[in-house]
Amino acid sequence: MTGFDYHRLRRFPDVEAANLQAWDTTDELLVRHALAAGAPDGEIAVIGDGYGAITLALADAGIAGIRVHQDLVTGRGALANNAAALGLSGWAAHELDRDLLAGARLVLLQLPKALAELEEVADAIARWAAPDVVLVAGGRVKHMSPAQNEVLARSFAQVQPQRGERKSRLIVASGARPVPHEPPFPVRQTHDGLTLCAFGGAFAGSRLDIGTRALLDAMRGLSLPVAAPRVVDLGCGTGALAASFALRNPDATVVATDRSAAAVRSAQATMAANGLAGRVEVTLDDSGSQLPDGSADLVLLNPPFHLGAGVHEGAGRRLIRAAARLLRPGGEVWTVFNSHLDHRRALSRDVGATEQVARTPKFTVTRSIRRA
Ligand SMILES: C[S@@+](CC[C@H](N)C(=O)[O-])C[C@H]1O[C@@H](n2cnc3c(N)ncnc32)[C@H](O)[C@@H]1O
Repeated sequence: MTGFDYHRLRRFPDVEAANLQAWDTTDELLVRHALAAGAPDGEIAVIGDGYGAITLALADAGIAGIRVHQDLVTGRGALANNAAALGLSGWAAHELDRDLLAGARLVLLQLPKALAELEEVADAIARWAAPDVVLVAGGRVKHMSPAQNEVLARSFAQVQPQRGERKSRLIVASGARPVPHEPPFPVRQTHDGLTLCAFGGAFAGSRLDIGTRALLDAMRGLSLPVAAPRVVDLGCGTGALAASFALRNPDATVVATDRSAAAVRSAQATMAANGLAGRVEVTLDDSGSQLPDGSADLVLLNPPFHLGAGVHEGAGRRLIRAAARLLRPGGEVWTVFNSHLDHRRALSRDVGATEQVARTPKFTVTRSIRRA
């Protein structure tokens, strides 16, 4: 054990709540494993460090030259904030690329939820890290599956699950296999003339999610009183809503924004695949925070409802409040959500008058008008 005090970590600027903590046992096991292995300065990479617990515990133990990749801009902000609060430094932030991994001999990974994301990460490590790299991947036992071992085994010759401890488990992988010439992502699929591109961590992959489809269908009845509307796809994922709107409305100014780097890279690829690269701006941002108040005539919103492993409405509510801030008075937000969620009340309260536009067996689509 290190003397690092994990309790001092916060999730801010991400959603905070009494039942949501900023680290878990897996972080502690990964750090302990790395320190026992004699984590070498400058040869260690950390992937999926939620709020900086792994990086900061290693930095606190005197390890220097740590390279870190976090998908979410909120996690990146939390790492920076926690580091400042604790007076720690000694790492560099990277995208999931060669610079993150070149020469790395130990990679610590918080297992992602999606197998596609794990496949992309495993390929990247086998592709770019040192040939003798050891990957130590960990997760909560209840979220782990044999399929994760199978995915790892495609990129590594030895995959050894360790004994579980305090409901977490590590998997040690080594013996990087030769990789295919081209990385396996992005993948792409075309749906009724709309091509979606997806990196491993993007919501729904290159499929068209049924909630997204419900909103796209309902949007056929959308007509705005302005000729050249300013539109924001808030939490854009692979960019299906932004791309579809831009293709049908050549005079619109469209911004697609997401807090996930995988989503942003995917949406950029989607725009390019549909001839929209110069027309739709894609930004990495938390809740559209870089966009000015009252600057949108229309917000398209398919909010998340999973926060971490538990179902939590906080993440969706945050985007509803953001939509209210972004819209000009009289502007509209079209929202799709799982019908069991109480988002309609939040939309009426935070945005303004809200009506149901469509309802499928699972989803509700609403239109809310921003009050003056
Ligand atoms: C249900 S998916 C919808 C994706 C896409 N709009 C679609 O309909 O296919 C929700 C998206 O919201 C993003 N998201 C969640 N919280 C966010 C936040 N605070 N700021 C920006 N994006 C966020 C997630 O990364 C995810 O891509």
